Amino acid sequence: MIALDIALLLLRFAVLVAEAGLFGTLAVQWLDGRRIGQSLLITLFAALAVLLPAWLLVQAASMADTSGLADTLAAGWLVLQVSWVGHLAAGRVAMWLVAWLTWRRLGAAWAVWPAGVALALHAGAGHAMATGDAWLFVSVLAHVFAASAWIGGLPALWLALDAPGAAVLVARYTWLGLLCVIVVAVTATAQALALAGGVPGVLGTEYGHTILVKIGLLLLLLLLAARHRFVLAPRLPASLAALRRSVLLEIALGLGVMAAASLLASLPPGAHSQPNWPFPWRFSLDLMDDDALRREVVNAAQAMGGAGLLLLLAILARRIRWLAVVTAMAIAWFAIPHFDLLLLPTEPTFYWQSTTGYTAASIDAGRHAYVRNCMGCHGEGGQGDGPQAKGMRIPPADLTAPHLWDHPDGELYWWIAHGMPGPDGQPVMPGFSPALDDDTIWSLIDFLHSNNPNKPADGVPLGMHMHH
Ligand code: HEC
Repeated sequence: MIALDIALLLLRFAVLVAEAGLFGTLAVQWLDGRRIGQSLLITLFAALAVLLPAWLLVQAASMADTSGLADTLAAGWLVLQVSWVGHLAAGRVAMWLVAWLTWRRLGAAWAVWPAGVALALHAGAGHAMATGDAWLFVSVLAHVFAASAWIGGLPALWLALDAPGAAVLVARYTWLGLLCVIVVAVTATAQALALAGGVPGVLGTEYGHTILVKIGLLLLLLLLAARHRFVLAPRLPASLAALRRSVLLEIALGLGVMAAASLLASLPPGAHSQPNWPFPWRFSLDLMDDDALRREVVNAAQAMGGAGLLLLLAILARRIRWLAVVTAMAIAWFAIPHFDLLLLPTEPTFYWQSTTGYTAASIDAGRHAYVRNCMGCHGEGGQGDGPQAKGMRIPPADLTAPHLWDHPDGELYWWIAHGMPGPDGQPVMPGFSPALDDDTIWSLIDFLHSNNPNKPADGVPLGMHMHH
């Protein structure tokens, strides 16, 4: 099964590279008006003719869980006929066929259009379409077109650097490159936030981490594109050798971006998995309800503003430069620690969300688990008056108090699973993981909520008002 997943990932990557290469090379031919990269196009069309059906078969084998060749072929046929993935794939094959024929008969200026439709169909098979969010889909389309035109066009550009008159093409293409890379970076960030599940999803899931790698590579590519446009292109032909090397580096980074993109298409979007918050602190405005604490943070922010002005002064006024810099640093040294008030200690599961949907069945399962595991300390009604509570250093919490709603589900999950330390760091409540599984813990939380009479009017736990 793992071998199949890896094969699927590699094929997805190869198909992406071939499709982007085709679209980009056609775009360069169109812009240039000459026939640069003829044999590259023929190679890519031939590769795609093998890769697309191979990908479809492996995809079908993985969807239908088949092994033998005959079974897999049958599954592939079925996928083509009945599934959305299959219909989109069939449309893609047809469009690339049309692109090939138009290119042979009429040239690149015509063939880019069916190639573009094929790319759009590819984008339609991804995660963004599954969300049903129209803006997200438009952003993905812009992303795919810009990335393919620019990264996919690089090999053709590299070939064109040898041809006479390269300077004109380079001048045009480096502008296009810069424009594309900006579109790609902006749309990638928008998708990251939408599909990865916000900041916790970006920082706390495999999907989010892959997005971070991809955006990091894109930023490097942005630097390279700017270098080509503003440093190397104006100095042609003297800078030809440097430009060739730089374009090769850009191609290598571009392949890295496409590898990350293929991985993203295979992973479940971060918004669908529980994000593990990587830091022991999280940003929170909870303490800002307190006037004194809020004033402290505002003062620190004003001091930092003053330090910023001093730095500006240091740039403008030569004579007092060092005095200004040293004073600004001293102010920052004293001001920065006050921003601690914006950070609260946090458990890794803080942003986890319940998977139960708060059903009657779940509440009932929670009630049973409560009687068996918690009642001894927290008491029959949950007021913290169980038989074991007597003589405890720190009394068990009253689970019927309004305070319960100050804690989001992810925090309650952590305490029930991993226990609660007292003020001295010694555990006062034991952790119940792995004795209780995830589902049981979420059910327990449902029971605690149903058993607590102080439900907030809008049904949203109080603590969550601050974070959303
Ligand atoms: C050995 C006794 C003991 C058992 C058993 C126990 N708890 Fe606790 N629990 C405590 C103590 C003591 C505290 C208070 C800790 C503190 O205030 O620092 C507490 C606190 C809590 C809190 C935090 C409430 C809040 O608003 O701060 C929750 C939630 C909780 N327990 C749930 C449970 C659940 C669910 C179970 C059963 C799976 C359970 N406890 C079993 C002793 C226990």
